[in-house]
Parts: sequence; structure tokens; C-alpha cells
Amino acid sequence: MQRTEIAPGIYWVGAVDWNVREFHGHTYTTHRGSTYNAYLIVDEKVALVDTVYGPFTDELLTRIRDILPVEKIDYVISNHVETDHSGGMPGLMKLIPDRPVYCTARGRDGLFKYYQQKWDFHPVKSGETLKLGKRTLSFLEAPYLHWPDSMFTYVVEDAILMPNDAFGQHYATAARFADEVDQYALYEEAAKYYANILYPLSSLVVKKIEEVQKLKLPIKMIAPSHGLIWRKDPTQIVLKWLAWARGEARDEVVVAFDTMWGSTEEMAGLIMEGLKAEGMPARLFKMSVTDRSDVLKEILYCRGLLVGSSTINRDILPTMAPLLEDLRGLRPVKKVGAAFGAYGWNGGAVSSIEKRLNEATVNVALPGLSLSWRADAAERERCIEFGKAFARKLREPAN
Ligand code: FEO
Repeated sequence: MQRTEIAPGIYWVGAVDWNVREFHGHTYTTHRGSTYNAYLIVDEKVALVDTVYGPFTDELLTRIRDILPVEKIDYVISNHVETDHSGGMPGLMKLIPDRPVYCTARGRDGLFKYYQQKWDFHPVKSGETLKLGKRTLSFLEAPYLHWPDSMFTYVVEDAILMPNDAFGQHYATAARFADEVDQYALYEEAAKYYANILYPLSSLVVKKIEEVQKLKLPIKMIAPSHGLIWRKDPTQIVLKWLAWARGEARDEVVVAFDTMWGSTEEMAGLIMEGLKAEGMPARLFKMSVTDRSDVLKEILYCRGLLVGSSTINRDILPTMAPLLEDLRGLRPVKKVGAAFGAYGWNGGAVSSIEKRLNEATVNVALPGLSLSWRADAAERERCIEFGKAFARKLREPAN
């Protein structure tokens, strides 16, 4: 087993999950797998920062044993309760049951509730430190990045930030460092991770990043708990997160729709023509054949969002519901939207989309476009005009 020493005396001892294709239950696809990163810091005292998802416990223990006996670990640091990082705790703590576990107070409560074990919890607050010898660990509470219990661990002398879920990506590779992999794929995964997990927490992301920036901590490396480690200009991912959290996006449009007999699809194509005529870049997704978590990543990149659906039972097609439901929970930042769709004897889809976009905090900037059966010549023109009008609306300073 090849050792990965990310800095002198600091080892990656996590696991690569090449096969995981769905995360958080079945809510989010991970086409490129993921990793569960844990770090072993060997000094006069030995600390383990985080564990792995439960089924990978043996891999964690094998990697630790390749460096030193597990019994040599003096401290266990749990940055986050969620089981993809704490699942290895029961197996680990069976071997070292009396070792102190450092976590936040909420982390202690969560770990106890999950595992019902009376480990020797040491709740910490921001600014508290733990001396290992030459090295010092400094803790920074980071509530809601990703759960209320979350915290960051900072290795002071090495200037390494271990922020757990923050700045991660679901990307399984043989490499461990971000500068060793395909950059397009890396940032695609980082963006998808942000869009699908962090969007509703964006105001807290901005606050926490600004707080860390004010501390003026030197940061040579960011070692998250998923994916690749950022060592070459690590602030690049911090600035990306800041931009995403502030709603900075391109003047481009996602058109997401589904259709029953093709009329709404025809409308979508004509709207695309209108957008193109105004020089507005746009991308089209038919939701019955598209992975919605990929579309959410596209929505992160684009300020404009047009959503279309045929009407069924006075409402949207069921194939549109998962995307709109996700958007309602994720509340994407500073998006401008509008709705369109065709209907038979009754409408309903367009008003339902508008209601759902409003609930998702999308600024519905244009009255929806609804037409019966199939667009005639005049209505085809209206669809093209709708695309043009939306492009112009998106460019208005207020939007
Ligand atoms: Fe990777 Fe919030 O767990």
C-alpha cells in the first residue's frame, strides 16, 4: 500500500470509493465516485483527523497501521458527525476506547446519538488549541458547513486547513492533489458539489470565508474530506466558493423542460432561437432524460433559468417536479427566471412553475408563456419573442 504523506509527518489515511454513484441517499449523483479523506498527524503525540464511511473502516485501519500501530493514536478529531466521516469511529474506538475525541459540543451530541458510545468527548470552541509537540491544532467552529456540528481543524505550523466538507468534490482518482488531475473535471465536480449541497447555506459560506480571511491565517494547503487536496494556490477554490455563494454567474440561460406530445419541446426550441438571436448563450435540458443534479450544476453557472412543462392534471409533468423541488430547498442565489408550456383543454403548469420558482427565491422577471395544443404561426413568433425578451431582461441592470 502506497503511503501518501501530504506534508512531513502528515499522512492521508482515507479511502477511495470508486463505485459510489449516489450520495445523500439517492438525492445526488456522483458519476466520478468520491473519497473519504482522513489525516494522521504524527508528532510527539499522534492525532487522527476524521475517519471514513463505515464500510471503509478496514481500509482506514490498514493505512494507519502502515505508518504506526493504531494504539499509538493519542487524539481523535471529529470535524463532522455525518456518517461518511464518522462511520469508521466505532471500529476505531474499539481499539482505542479511552482516547479523547475532540469535536464541537454539537458534534459530541451527534456522535453520542448515532453510536450510543460514551467516548471521552472533549468539546472545543473556536480558537481552542491542542498541542501535539512541534505542531499545534487550532479549531474553528463552522456551523452548517455542512451540518450544525461542523468544525475546521487548522495545523498551525504547517498552515494546513482541514475543513472537512468545505471545499470538497466528489471525485475518485488515484491522485491525491488537485494539481495532479484534469482541471475541467475537478472544477465540474467542485461546482456540482456546491450547487447540490451548499447552495442553501450560501450566506453562511460567505460569512465563514470572510471570518477566516479576517484571521489572515497563512494557508499553504486545504485538505478537505472529499476529493482532491488543494496545495497549489489553495485560495483558488476559496474564491470560487465565495463567488458561487454570492451568486456570481455568467449571463447565460438554462432552459429546463419536459413535454408530453412535443408541443412544449417545440416551444423550448423556438425560445432557444430567440435567445440566440439576442446573442444570449443558452443550454437546453429535457428533464425526462437528464440527471437533475447535473442540471443544478449548470444553474450554478448561469444567471438565467427558463422552466417549461406541458400541463397534466392542471399542474406540471411529474418529471419536472424533482428539479423544482430541489430548487425550492436549495434556493439558488440571484437567479432570474420565467416559465413556459403548452396545454390541452386546461392550463396550470405555467402558474405552478412560477409559484415554485418564487418559492425557490428565483426572480420571475417575465410573465409566463402559455399556449394551447400546439404553436401556430403567430404563437411561434411569440415563443421567439419570449426568448428575446428574456435575454434583454437578464441584461437589465436591476436583474
Ligand atoms: Fe461529507 Fe456532511 O458529510
